[in-house]
This record gives sequence, structure tokens and C-alpha cells, in this order.
Amino acid sequence: MILITGATGFIGKRVLQKISEKNLTVRCIVRKTASHASFENPCIIHMIGDVLDYESVLRATEGIDTVYYFIHMMGPQNEQERFDVLDRRAVINMVKACKVNGVKRIIHLTGMSNPEEKLSHHLASRKEVEEIITSSGIDYTIFRASVIIGRGGAAFDILDAAVRKLPVIPVPDWGKTQVQPVFIGDVIRYLVECLDKKETINKCYDIGCCDVFTYKELMQEYAKELGLKRIFVPFPGSWQRLSAYILEKLAPVNSNVVYWLIESLHNNMLAEPNDLDRIFGFEPLSFGESVRKIKDET
Ligand SMILES: NC(=O)c1ccc[n+]([C@@H]2O[C@H](COP(=O)([O-])OP(=O)(O)OC[C@H]3O[C@@H](n4cnc5c(N)ncnc54)[C@H](OP(=O)(O)O)[C@@H]3O)[C@@H](O)[C@H]2O)c1
Repeated sequence: MILITGATGFIGKRVLQKISEKNLTVRCIVRKTASHASFENPCIIHMIGDVLDYESVLRATEGIDTVYYFIHMMGPQNEQERFDVLDRRAVINMVKACKVNGVKRIIHLTGMSNPEEKLSHHLASRKEVEEIITSSGIDYTIFRASVIIGRGGAAFDILDAAVRKLPVIPVPDWGKTQVQPVFIGDVIRYLVECLDKKETINKCYDIGCCDVFTYKELMQEYAKELGLKRIFVPFPGSWQRLSAYILEKLAPVNSNVVYWLIESLHNNMLAEPNDLDRIFGFEPLSFGESVRKIKDET
């Protein structure tokens, strides 16, 4: 049986949908009932629990072969502890419970980063979670992405809001940082299809499309795809607080998530070469194709 964590999230709910189409039995650990109440598929079992609570993670991993780990806690903040402390505790609970229950494999999606750069709090935390999984002794498959092009993804929703709502776009220093986006449909294909691809076991893969942009170019390309004329004005400095303040008002994204993602805009996110095209038999869509696909969906 498969366990999906984060099944109410941007990635988890799409993976759940695809896996359930394969008629595999899936258990999901979710914090509240309301967000998943619409599912009536008998192959999907919802278990109420919290990954910060070891006992519920232990129950959720009983009889499980593969865990999909799609948790992050940058959202509504706990007063006492920052997201990185919580994310560490959650993944430690998960690997400990997986070992007790003999789980064979953990499949995880995380953020891409350059090991030679000083990482933002968000990316350092993502790296730490990844390392806790890869050093656990449990088999794993890890995919690392930068901006995922899909509605409901925090990074994409911020890009979308900035470009649609600001006729004049200030570009702080992070406008020069490089990024390699990837289409949500391609991310979900990798995550679901790797289940049957033994050669992906104990491997980490960076996933990105053929296009590499600076963040300024990304906004310019997106404006072009939407047919919008936008003026980009250099705005020297970092402006994390001010950028977050403006963007959290414009985008449908939790304000803490916006704040931590803005800090990550200083880290380049470029994919290391790999053999995914050969293993999976497809190449990710270009940025333009991804945007057009999303436009078709709406
Ligand atoms: N979105 C992107 O563009 C992107 C890019 C690169 C990598 N990733 C990676 O993809 C993974 C999933 O991200 P996402 O975009 O799907 O995030 P998301 O939409 O914010 O979903 C996060 C999920 O975690 C769950 N969660 C948080 N705290 C929990 C807890 N204590 N117990 C149980 N569940 C808890 C949330 O459940 P609730 O509904 O209860 O809050 C939600 O289902 C992360 O590892 C992220 O780093 C995402």
C-alpha cells in the first residue's frame, strides 16, 4: 500500500489523483476532514493525523510499502518554533516510523539548490529534509524542482499575480538570479511513473525544462505569453520585506510562504544533467508550452 502525505497540497493532491487512477490502494494522512471530504473512491483511505505527532505517523505507516513525502510547514506559523524546526521534527518522525514498520521506499519532491551557494532558510531546510531521508537507510527517490508552472503552486501564483497586477514591475537584485522552471504535469509524471522504475531507487534528480531564465526574464516571458505590456524598473537592493509585503497582498498565497520564498529568490536553481529523458521517455515541456497548457485548463 502507498501512503501520501501532504495529500491536500498542490503536489500531493495531483499525485493522489493519478495514483488512484491506477487502482492502487492509497492511504493519506491529513490534518482535517473538510479538505478531502469530496473523495469517495474506495481505494483511498483517509486517516486523520499530524506528521508532528509520532504516534499518528506510526499508525499511518503500518502496512505501507512506499511513502510519498510532500510536507512543508512554511505556511501559518507556530508562535514558538520556525518552520525549519517543525519540518525537521516531522521528517525525523517519518523516517523513524518507516523503519519500525518496514517501509521500503520514500519518494520526495524538494527544492533545487546549488551546494556552493549560501542557501536561504527555506532551501537550507529543504536540503536538510532531503538529507534526513537519503541518510535514513530506507530506499528513496528524490526529485528537486525550482518554480513549478501550475495553478495553486506558491511560486507560480506569486509570479502570476505580480505580472498580471503590476503594470510597472520593480526588479530588485534577485532579478538576475537564474532559474529553470518545470511544468506541473511533468513533475507529476516523474513522481507517479518512478514507482515502477527500479533504476530511480536511491537517486536524486534535478528536474527542469529546456529554458533557463533570470527571474526578470521569467516575468518578461510570462508577460509576453499573456500578451501584457509590462515595464520593468531596476530597484537595487534586496527588499525582502517590501517585496513580500506587496506580493502577499496580490497573490493568493500565505504571507509566511511569500516571505520565505522571496528570500530564496537569491539562490540560483539550475538542473544538473541527468538521464531522466532516457528513463522516462519524455522531455519536460518548455516554459512557453507549459504556460499555454495552463491557459487551456482555465
Ligand atoms: N510548489 C512548488 O512550486 C514547489 C517547487 C519545488 C518543490 N516543491 C516541494 O513539493 C513539496 C510539496 O509542496 P506543495 O507545493 O505541494 O506544498 P503545499 O501545497 O503547501 O502542501 C503542503 C502539504 O503539507 C501538509 N502539511 C503541513 N503540515 C502538516 C502536518 N503537520 N501534518 C500533516 N500534513 C501537513 C499540508 O496539509 P494541510 O492542508 O493540512 O495544511 C499540505 O497538504 C514540498 O516538499 C516542496 O518543497 C514545491
